[in-house]
Amino acid sequence: MRKTIAILSILALFGISGGAQQTDKTAQQAAKPAAQAGKAASTPVPFVIPPEVAKEPNPVKPTAASIAEGKQMYGYDCAMCHGANGNGKGDLAADMKLTLKDFRDAATLKDMTDGEMFYIIQKGKGDMPSEGDRQKPDGIWNMVNYIRSLSKKAQPAAKVKLAG
Ligand code: HEC
Repeated sequence: MRKTIAILSILALFGISGGAQQTDKTAQQAAKPAAQAGKAASTPVPFVIPPEVAKEPNPVKPTAASIAEGKQMYGYDCAMCHGANGNGKGDLAADMKLTLKDFRDAATLKDMTDGEMFYIIQKGKGDMPSEGDRQKPDGIWNMVNYIRSLSKKAQPAAKVKLAG
């Protein structure tokens, strides 16, 4: 009789643990599609700049004032990666092991339109965070003007005095 109880309790144990295992499995199965859905959502969307944005002309003239303002904003939001002088060797870029292009080299951005630069700055790209709502469009165009000025020897940005 004792033996039967022992066997019964063992069976019961197995039963319980078996049952528990099954619920585990069901929970896992239920969790799987959710995980897959999460994966699908984070799959990078191919980066495409809308042609109408790429073609958009820069509405802000590269005046000394625009470049000076662009320089100031660039100093706050961009220099940590792209380098204070645009050489691409900012501290954060080094920390993140990013290899960035040299904005001082005229060849770097010769095939990129102002509109494309605007789009990348506003939306971000790859490891570059988006500027989003931190900048009004004119603020972004100022930064485009500043970056362009870095490769123009005739008009060194260094000579532009910062306002304020
Ligand atoms: C966290 C580092 C980081 C910060 C901060 C950052 N960038 Fe970038 N930037 C990148 C990376 C990385 C790329 C290359 C993206 C790619 O092609 O995948 C890039 C690309 C660019 C490009 C396109 C040309 C190129 O070099 O590929 C421009 C223009 C640019 N950044 C301007 C800016 C401006 C202006 C700011 C500040 C508002 C800024 N970036 C802030 C990392 C950064």
